Amino acid sequence: MDSLYANPFYYEIAFSYRDIPKEVQVMQDVIRRYSLIPVRRVLELGCGNSPHMQELLQLGYSYVGIDLSPEMLQYSQQKAQRLGKPVELYRQDMNDFQLDSPVDFTFIMLGSLYVASTRELISHFASVNRALNPGGLYFLDWCVDFSWLADITDNWIAERDGITVEVNHSTELLNYIEQTFRERITLLVRDGNQVRRIQQDSIRRAIYPQEFLLITDQQGFEFIGWWNDWNLDSPLAGTEEQVVRPICVLRKR
Ligand SMILES: C[S@@+](CC[C@H](N)C(=O)[O-])C[C@H]1O[C@@H](n2cnc3c(N)ncnc32)[C@H](O)[C@@H]1O
Repeated sequence: MDSLYANPFYYEIAFSYRDIPKEVQVMQDVIRRYSLIPVRRVLELGCGNSPHMQELLQLGYSYVGIDLSPEMLQYSQQKAQRLGKPVELYRQDMNDFQLDSPVDFTFIMLGSLYVASTRELISHFASVNRALNPGGLYFLDWCVDFSWLADITDNWIAERDGITVEVNHSTELLNYIEQTFRERITLLVRDGNQVRRIQQDSIRRAIYPQEFLLITDQQGFEFIGWWNDWNLDSPLAGTEEQVVRPICVLRKR
């Protein structure tokens, strides 16, 4: 079976429900409010198909992306070529990477903080700390788990140019001491006469709020805030009935 992160084109359709210009606007608001440094060079971790790259380039930022998937990196490179803008794309592990020159802002989207252990989680924030200029922000979308691990399933259908993608996302608790779960994303693609099944299985470690605060503090970050559903008017208090796509902002000391 094909793997999801080796199929950027179908990945892009499956996760096209986001309002990208609005998300870029929120990132800009966050920079305006909380960054202590001017932002010129931005880094996306687990950049994949780089959905926010075009808007960011148009706003004048330089874009750096890190991913493990060669197919995703090639797809982003071709996108940048079509836009006629230079970008930097590197095949590196977000949990242990190094850049030649630092960035002013880092972001990670759609719960892409892929770690399987506490050691990797600590190493992730140590790597981000090395890459980011002091006073710069780290913006995380949906990377903190505000509810306890559970076996959950979610389904939706996306369509573009006559191509239909049925998406199934599920999690299965593996070990509650190690806080690990299996995440499975399955795509059923109908493209012309072809029907394809694409799947991605990952073993992940859940990241809960208090340990997130502790580890990021130890790795040199100041906690700025977290908000529900990309809304800077909805800071999370811990009493919400439902938390949807929470965003979190840290600042390097
Ligand atoms: C959910 S996709 C996000 C893609 C894109 N940033 C977006 O907003 O749609 C997660 C991406 O993280 C990449 N990835 C997974 N583990 C990684 C790791 N350890 N280091 C770097 N990239 C990784 C995958 O290849 C994939 O492209």
